[in-house]
Amino acid sequence: MSSFKPLRKAVFPVAGLGTRFLPATKAMPKEMLTVVDKPLIQYAVEEALEAGIEQIIFVTGRGKSALEDHFDISYELETTMQARGKSLAAIEGIRQKPGSPVYVRQQEPLGLGHAVWCAREIVGDEPFAVLLPDELMWGTPGFLAQMVEAYHKVGGNLIGALEVAPEETDKYGIITPGEVDGPLTEVLEVIEKPAKGTAKSNLMTPGRYILQPEVMKILDNPVTGAGGEIQLTDAMAQLIGKQPFHGYTFNGQRFDCGGKAGYIQANLALALEREDLGPPVRAFAKRLLG
Ligand code: UTP
Repeated sequence: MSSFKPLRKAVFPVAGLGTRFLPATKAMPKEMLTVVDKPLIQYAVEEALEAGIEQIIFVTGRGKSALEDHFDISYELETTMQARGKSLAAIEGIRQKPGSPVYVRQQEPLGLGHAVWCAREIVGDEPFAVLLPDELMWGTPGFLAQMVEAYHKVGGNLIGALEVAPEETDKYGIITPGEVDGPLTEVLEVIEKPAKGTAKSNLMTPGRYILQPEVMKILDNPVTGAGGEIQLTDAMAQLIGKQPFHGYTFNGQRFDCGGKAGYIQANLALALEREDLGPPVRAFAKRLLG
């Protein structure tokens, strides 16, 4: 068992503009896009709760009130459904306990690093997880639960580490790997969107992180990085060598639902797994593909 504090808090940055998914995300938050019958944000919150997270922190911005309503009581809907004898099973368990989630505001979308830093007062001096809801991680146990198990052994900082095609490395944070021990890879360096042909590996960092609170101190003095944004990658890279820092390879599937192809793939894959939807969707897909 490591000497690091247990993980209780999770930050969900949901203040981005979602430009890759326009026009759907013009008035609707990207994180409310639905995969089969649940919004992306609900998958991410359930993944965090499964991993034992006790405090949910949303970093929101303008136009994101649908997110807050989703986790609240829907008085009119619930009383009307009850009066009509309809089952509330589909919405039971979404509402959080009184006082939760906590919402902080990112007034301007200056980048992921800035969004995470906006939660600094709530995070305090504890380790915390960061989950990017537009990356749907599908597996049993969930990605964060798998990471938490590894965190109990190695402590420090843990980030996702997934292989991508070598020609795609300029789109992601890329890890320079050290020693590998099962699903854990020592991280020697992590570089956000390295220029084509310069990546040291094809291990990218998907949107799951367990970070020590010292990263917030680094973000107190932000540096503008790739894409003109304050990058979380640049800040956490400064912890390498000072604290344990590992990549964790997820036993499961990743769907990049911030983009249209990944979103459609997620809908298809999750629908095919369902008892109620799998047979008709499979039959239709077969017909469609000839
Ligand atoms: P993305 O890189 O997907 O950015 O952010 P985006 O602005 O949401 O979407 P595109 O690229 O324009 O289509 C990853 C996560 O970080 C949040 C987003 O809401 C998303 O969950 N984010 C990003 C913020 O909260 N604030 C920011 O300034 C940037």
